[in-house]
Amino acid sequence: MNKIETSVDEHFEVVQAPQIVSAELATSDVGLIDFARKAGKNIFSVIPDATRTQNYLRGPANIHYVCDPEMITELLAGVGRNFPKSQFTRNVIGPAVGNGMILAEGEKWRAQRHRYAPLFAARNLPVLTSHFAATGDELADFFALANGEVDVADAAQEATLANISRVMFSGNEAVAKRDIRDGMRRFTDYISYMSLFDLMGLPKWLPRLKWLRSRKVITDVRKLTRDVIEKRQSKKNIEAEDFLDLLIEALETDQEDIETTIDNLLTFVAAGYETSANTIAWGLYLLAVFPDVQERIRQEILIASSDGPIKFEVLPQLPLLQAHVKETLRLYPAGALFARDATETTDINGITFKKGDVIMFPVYSLHRNELLWDKPDEYSIERFINKKYKRGQYIPFGDGPRICIGAQYAETEIMVLLASVLRKVSFTLTEHPVAPPNLTFTMRPGGPIILNARRV
Ligand code: HEM
Repeated sequence: MNKIETSVDEHFEVVQAPQIVSAELATSDVGLIDFARKAGKNIFSVIPDATRTQNYLRGPANIHYVCDPEMITELLAGVGRNFPKSQFTRNVIGPAVGNGMILAEGEKWRAQRHRYAPLFAARNLPVLTSHFAATGDELADFFALANGEVDVADAAQEATLANISRVMFSGNEAVAKRDIRDGMRRFTDYISYMSLFDLMGLPKWLPRLKWLRSRKVITDVRKLTRDVIEKRQSKKNIEAEDFLDLLIEALETDQEDIETTIDNLLTFVAAGYETSANTIAWGLYLLAVFPDVQERIRQEILIASSDGPIKFEVLPQLPLLQAHVKETLRLYPAGALFARDATETTDINGITFKKGDVIMFPVYSLHRNELLWDKPDEYSIERFINKKYKRGQYIPFGDGPRICIGAQYAETEIMVLLASVLRKVSFTLTEHPVAPPNLTFTMRPGGPIILNARRV
């Protein structure tokens, strides 16, 4: 985590409007050639802006964009519940996460989901919370010591990686934590680099830009993961102590092959590290824009737990913080777009999805859709205080059988890290502009998010 050197440009006029940054969606039709060129850098630039004002839109080729809660629920949890993950997702992240849970289908997926569900069960959350609280205190100390400008996006990534090291590879001295973290960072950077030819379902023989990049990153990280598993197998804990022990149990008792175990470990890293980190970074950014809410939340945390590690039992006493996390995930959903391929022709609410069509769920647009939300681009935690929304309107973690298995893990992690930090440190905006979000594999901040951190 690096402290940012302050350099104030004398010619730069400091303007701090209480407006929040939004993604730049496509305001005009995107031709096929432009589509590939633009989306390879940022998928937002090809998602039609009209997805924020309409509930259904036909895209280029065989693509549908769905922003209607009823249709979404039907597609994810009803008639379309068994539609597979789209081929483009498979092409983009397949080389990295192989047959892990995100991409597995049918019986293979069911077996994995069943096997790993206990890892994410509610009964494990108190223990996970103690790991998250240890990282939370370190993060709070880091910000307090910085006492000036810091890149909160970078710091949040370090923190969620530290959590993954603690929870998944606890006490693994054989492989240096630094190596694990560096390997995982390079790995997630690699998979974030999308090929839009994949998105468009263009023929396999067309060269993908991604192929020009070295696959060494993947081979290295797989070797590192295999080392971690083998070292732990040779020095096993009698009682399972962390995710790695449980993964090894699956390997030994269910005869899961080691390649699938590696796939799943990498799946949990790929799906769980940047997503949580970015939510924390956007959450801190929003609180810097709205200092009054920040102060209300700080008081709530101080009343519930003024000192010592944040405990799991404290979380229900933090309804304002919880509403803030929900509102952050509405405005900046890390899984801003996901997709399915229709495997049979299906009619829903007058729309025909033909066999082979690609169904896009542009979560970002759904969460800011004018037909569904009052003042959709404005931040308000009141939206999530004693309010319920119809199913399919708010889906930061998806829905149906493929709903995020890590949702509770993530919500707990984000709450604990934010609570640990906010009671010790306050955040304000700086003159450094915050870039609009960018969408590749997940939605990321378009650059550093530099805020002023001050010990409270
Ligand atoms: C803020 C944090 C997170 C967000 C916004 C998020 C979002 C999502 C979404 C939208 C999906 C569904 C994708 C689809 O239906 O195609 C998903 C699936 C998944 N997520 Fe998360 N996720 C988060 C954190 C995590 C964490 C912490 C983990 C694990 C440690 C995780 C593991 C997974 C896995 C394994 C799947 C695939 C589940 C399946 O297909 O059965 N996620 N996530």
